[in-house]
Amino acid sequence: MDKYKLRKAEPKDVPDILRLIKELAKYEDMEDQVRLTEKELLEDGFGDQPFYHCIVAESQGEESGPKVIGFAMYYFTYDPWIGKLLYLEDFFIMHEYRGLGIGSEVLKHLSLTAMKTRCSSMHFIVAEDNKKSIEFYKRRGAEDLSQEEGWRLFRFDSDSLVKMSTPAEE
Ligand code: COA
Repeated sequence: MDKYKLRKAEPKDVPDILRLIKELAKYEDMEDQVRLTEKELLEDGFGDQPFYHCIVAESQGEESGPKVIGFAMYYFTYDPWIGKLLYLEDFFIMHEYRGLGIGSEVLKHLSLTAMKTRCSSMHFIVAEDNKKSIEFYKRRGAEDLSQEEGWRLFRFDSDSLVKMSTPAEE
């Protein structure tokens, strides 16, 4: 890991974070769904009340200077049964830097953060066809809650929110 460094993301990293968010979306075949802009990412992550936290992995050995080659975006959430949780939202290491132990270091860093903040677990979702990552997590002890507990992921999209929040006509 000498050639790589993990650090807390700074506002200057926003363009790289958005680049990696798009690369991950492309990897998941959903690139066209990324609507977020640099402006929103900056406001939402680096304002007075950040909506997310982010760590970046930086390669030190590049001729052109340090290069951001991976990231993990997370936030804290709350479960009424077990209390504080660390929710891992996005996690991506660029293809040419995979298999070098950087992802494992990111998980180690997040595990330490979870322990320091007294979170009882770390939750995340993985696309069903992302077999490589599912195996990567399982080898590190992750439990598949959809399979073991039957949880299903739901969403109200903005149309539904507008509909529900609009008073019914007399
Ligand atoms: N690509 C991926 N994995 C490789 C590899 C390669 N070229 N070469 C070897 N591996 C193996 C490693 O041996 C290691 O095996 P282990 O679990 O027995 O230790 C594992 O795959 C990768 O470990 P590591 O090097 O610590 O992680 P990483 O830096 O490759 O990062 C991911 C792991 C999942 C973040 C990364 O593969 C990735 O970005 N995948 C695509 C995006 C993705 O699926 N993100 C998660 C969404 S939930």
